[in-house]
Amino acid sequence: MKKVSVIGAGNVGATTVYYIAEKNIADIVMVDVAEGLAQKKALDFLHSATLRSYNISITGTSDYREIRDSDVVVVTAGVPRKPGMDRMDLLKINVAIVTGASRYIAEYCPDAVVIVVTNPLDVIAMVVLRETGFAIKKVVGMAGALDSTRFRYFIAEKLGVWPGDVMAMVLGGHGDEMVPLKNYTSVGGIPLPQLLDDDSIEGMIRRTRDGGGEIVKYLKTGSAFYAPGASVAKMVESVIKDEKRLMAASAYLRGEYGYHNIFLGVPALLGKNGIEKIINIELAPEEKKALDASAEAVREGIRMLESFYVPGGESQ
Ligand code: APR
Repeated sequence: MKKVSVIGAGNVGATTVYYIAEKNIADIVMVDVAEGLAQKKALDFLHSATLRSYNISITGTSDYREIRDSDVVVVTAGVPRKPGMDRMDLLKINVAIVTGASRYIAEYCPDAVVIVVTNPLDVIAMVVLRETGFAIKKVVGMAGALDSTRFRYFIAEKLGVWPGDVMAMVLGGHGDEMVPLKNYTSVGGIPLPQLLDDDSIEGMIRRTRDGGGEIVKYLKTGSAFYAPGASVAKMVESVIKDEKRLMAASAYLRGEYGYHNIFLGVPALLGKNGIEKIINIELAPEEKKALDASAEAVREGIRMLESFYVPGGESQ
């Protein structure tokens, strides 16, 4: 049986575990620093094993040694932004947390594929890459899968069609500058612009960009976790089963789409080695301009990171 470890047993981590368990994809280890939290959730999941036909093991722990030899490690550990905390304060805390987690990953599962979820995603992925020293294809960020599923849902809702029949891709960084690609969106093979007018499409693009924000407004404390968990589970499944599913994923770029040395959401094939291939597609001039702006927003985050972060420095 393959093994998946999920670092951080909070909302996104535990929901990811739920979806992985429901499909019996792999044995699961959940790690959380909060004493007892991962243990409690693992036990709770296992109590449903007979009802849900689980044939995998689920372990909860605060001991990183339990992640040994995992095929995939998902990083969701972090703290949410609290009142009075600015972006820099939050970044410093999450960088220290992820630095610590990355060193354990490098020590106990040197062959794993790491899926990064902790925000700010495209910047934190850089820290994981540097601290693990892994090959670049082994570190991948989860954002595009989530942004794309939201876009697909909004289109399906508007047209009254089955969501699975809508194919769409959202590229760029995980933020307000993300780039939904209307020219590559289709419903049962029919290009979206033949089914909806420009204003309606623009409305759905705006709603996709604000997808996370809309949920935060309802929740007040905390952020989305069902769709993020399902998106991570889809990526995990593609890697564990070597499915080579094509989806938007945050990958470290070395010249693809004209960008160098940043993580950015691009179409990629996910398989047992992580990013098996980055697919180059032609973008309309306005889409390329939007992707440039998104890359610049990620670079701004990296400049913020580099103002205090020294690879191999302090961890938490
Ligand atoms: N090692 C393991 N777990 C840790 C560590 C650490 N060093 N530090 C914090 N954690 C745990 C916390 O104890 C908490 O249970 O990470 C968990 C985070 O869970 P939540 O606060 O519920 O946050 P969640 O909603 O799951 O989001 C996690 O994913 O989508 C992103 O922006 C989101 O960065 C956030 C991350």
